[in-house]
Amino acid sequence: MPLTYFAAADDGPWRVVRHDTIAGAPLSAIHRLRVLDSVNSAGSTPGDWPLRGVTSHGRYVTRGERRLLEARQPPLGRPEATCAALIPLAKSTVWWDLAQDERRAIFEDRSAHIATGLRYLPAVARKLYHCRDLGEPFDFLTWFEYAPADATAFEELVSHLRRTAEWTYVEREIDIRLERV
Ligand code: HEM
Repeated sequence: MPLTYFAAADDGPWRVVRHDTIAGAPLSAIHRLRVLDSVNSAGSTPGDWPLRGVTSHGRYVTRGERRLLEARQPPLGRPEATCAALIPLAKSTVWWDLAQDERRAIFEDRSAHIATGLRYLPAVARKLYHCRDLGEPFDFLTWFEYAPADATAFEELVSHLRRTAEWTYVEREIDIRLERV
């Protein structure tokens, strides 16, 4: 199971431009970030860093949604996408105690997470890492890349999601914005 590390690194390619605690306990501040697949080269690791996660199978996407996502989602690393967001989140035990069908109903039927997100493709590239089963402080590390021209749209998406039924189960959320050095 390959791990991905989000590490503080003085020479990292991403400079932190904003770091907001949206819910729950704060996370120690860093200035530069590097995304790595090995801890040996993770560099300095102050406080809570590095954060680590794994990519995993989809829990909620239907076949039809997957087809739409695959048709529209851009890759990471586009030269024009010089803005990034790292948003680590943890959901409550109430969420994790729900059955799979109940979670899907909140996630999509009530909150339209995928339907809403699809409207922001291909402007925003995304990658979801899971870390709950690794005993990490967060359940998910979410990573997004977009061009400066799409920054306003990204803000609109994030603030929309934070008003959904799904987000009433989010008990810790840190919003870190970065720009490519
Ligand atoms: C850019 C548009 C977006 C699209 C197309 C999108 C799409 C998706 C999809 C398809 C999943 C389900 C994966 C699965 O089946 O397990 C998902 C999960 C998730 N997304 Fe998004 N998303 C977007 C934006 C966001 C944003 C902005 C955030 C955070 C502020 C976010 C946070 C999450 C989280 C935490 C999960 C995991 C939920 C869980 O398993 O309980 N997404 N997203």
